[in-house]
Amino acid sequence: MIEIKNIHKSFGDLNVLNGVSIEVEDGQSLVVMGKSGQGKSVLLKLITRLLYPDAGNIYIDGDDLGSLNSKRLSECRLKFGMLFQSAALFDSLNICDNVGIGLKAYNRYSDAEIQSVTQESLERVGLVDVGDKYPAQLSGGMRKRVGLARVVAMKPKYILYDEPTTGLDPVTSAQIAILIKEMQDDLNVTSIIVTHDIPTGFFLADKIVLLDQGNFSFVGNVEEMRKSEMKSVQDFISGYKEEADIKFR
Ligand SMILES: Nc1ncnc2c1ncn2[C@@H]1O[C@H](COP(=O)(O)OP(=O)(O)O)[C@@H](O)[C@H]1O
Ligand SMILES: [Mg+2]
Repeated sequence: MIEIKNIHKSFGDLNVLNGVSIEVEDGQSLVVMGKSGQGKSVLLKLITRLLYPDAGNIYIDGDDLGSLNSKRLSECRLKFGMLFQSAALFDSLNICDNVGIGLKAYNRYSDAEIQSVTQESLERVGLVDVGDKYPAQLSGGMRKRVGLARVVAMKPKYILYDEPTTGLDPVTSAQIAILIKEMQDDLNVTSIIVTHDIPTGFFLADKIVLLDQGNFSFVGNVEEMRKSEMKSVQDFISGYKEEADIKFR
């Protein structure tokens, strides 16, 4: 379980998070929506302790991140997989090596084991016969799948997704969203998905929060968000529609 309690984070004069609190139960998927620059990525970085909060606590399975020594923090980080918008593949490594790199770094598996987990992970995301190719030879959607295979290979308990469908066309976005959902159901992972893509968010969410000016202005489920007449929700939805109109005109 992930518990975020009263987290504050500023960069100099810029107040990004202003006391946010939320809990994510095991097996649940939390979708974090919000306009660009509201602190969604910062929130993910705080959860994996790539950034430190100014105040507040984050508990992972009851462990207060702020009180863990570096060894226990490393162990805790192993519970997390993270998929970035760019998929962050290494251009000079082939797809197999890109997927296996985390396992290799772990220094605990034989080459044969790594190969078998890599293969299994690639199949899980619907990729076959691409192991010898290089990232530049794949489409954006396929690269995203490779990124997901790399995350899955590590068998994380938690997966954090930062804008997993941004930059993809609507059909590919939907395919990736379906894949994420399958992953959730099959592997029983707990996820936090940051996205400003409303269809993806609604499809994946057990719970949605809307980050707006440092706080969660809305917390609820998909149905509640659809029906919400709150100004921040309405603004967010209408902003999204305008953006989509411009994009597909
Ligand atoms: N390491 C950093 N140093 C200074 N400012 C930062 C840093 N990381 C993020 N910010 C600022 O914090 C705000 C929120 O950023 P971010 O979480 O990336 O937004 P988004 O919701 O688009 O993911 C932005 O104004 C960004 O410029
Ligand atoms: Mg971001």
